[in-house]
Amino acid sequence: MTRVTFQGHSCFEIAHDEHRLIIDPFLSNNPVAKVGPDQIRADWILVSHGHGDHWGDTETIARANGATVIGCFELAVYAEHKGLKAHGLHIGGGHQFPFGRVQLTVAHHGTGGGDSELTYLGTPAGFLLSLGPFTVYHSGDTGLTYDMKLLGDFHQVDLALLPIGDNFTMGIEDAARATTFIRPKQVVPMHYNTFDLIRADPQDFVRAVRRMSRAEPIVLDVGESLTL
Ligand code: NI
Ligand code: MN
Repeated sequence: MTRVTFQGHSCFEIAHDEHRLIIDPFLSNNPVAKVGPDQIRADWILVSHGHGDHWGDTETIARANGATVIGCFELAVYAEHKGLKAHGLHIGGGHQFPFGRVQLTVAHHGTGGGDSELTYLGTPAGFLLSLGPFTVYHSGDTGLTYDMKLLGDFHQVDLALLPIGDNFTMGIEDAARATTFIRPKQVVPMHYNTFDLIRADPQDFVRAVRRMSRAEPIVLDVGESLTL
């Protein structure tokens, strides 16, 4: 059983068999989050990059659960300096974890985070997750990139999680174009309507995806789940 729950912004919890993962756990400062970090049970915390709206409550959740942080090498070193367990990877590299395989993918974005927004925390990334028979792609924060075509050409992505909020990441049109590169079975929008700067109507994304691709667009409310 693999269940994916949207927790607002770019945060998703994934329950896969007995394994509990959370990606980009931005909860306590997230105006749309419905759960706090104290309500999260996770063994693995995947962090796409160091910006505060992705690193979020990583430290709190990792300490409370003894969870391992997974991210790019520099971000993993930063987590270890905080006393957390961490596993560093880098772009294009993957590793087989007890729950499945994680490969870091290219994301065109910024990197600073940590104790000041200018602390260097490596390269922003996305995640290609192989969970049993399922492949899930969480792009992290990124602009549209032709590298996404590699995912569609060499993987059968079941679920793509893509930002649509514009300003800092792809907007709706580019995210729909990304869907034509990735060719996932299902696509869920993220990184929108958390703040005024990233206002977007997810139904416009649904229409754009239907116009351009064969993927099934699914809009998840905060707290809502889908089962793969
Ligand atoms: Ni960011
Ligand atoms: Mn962001």
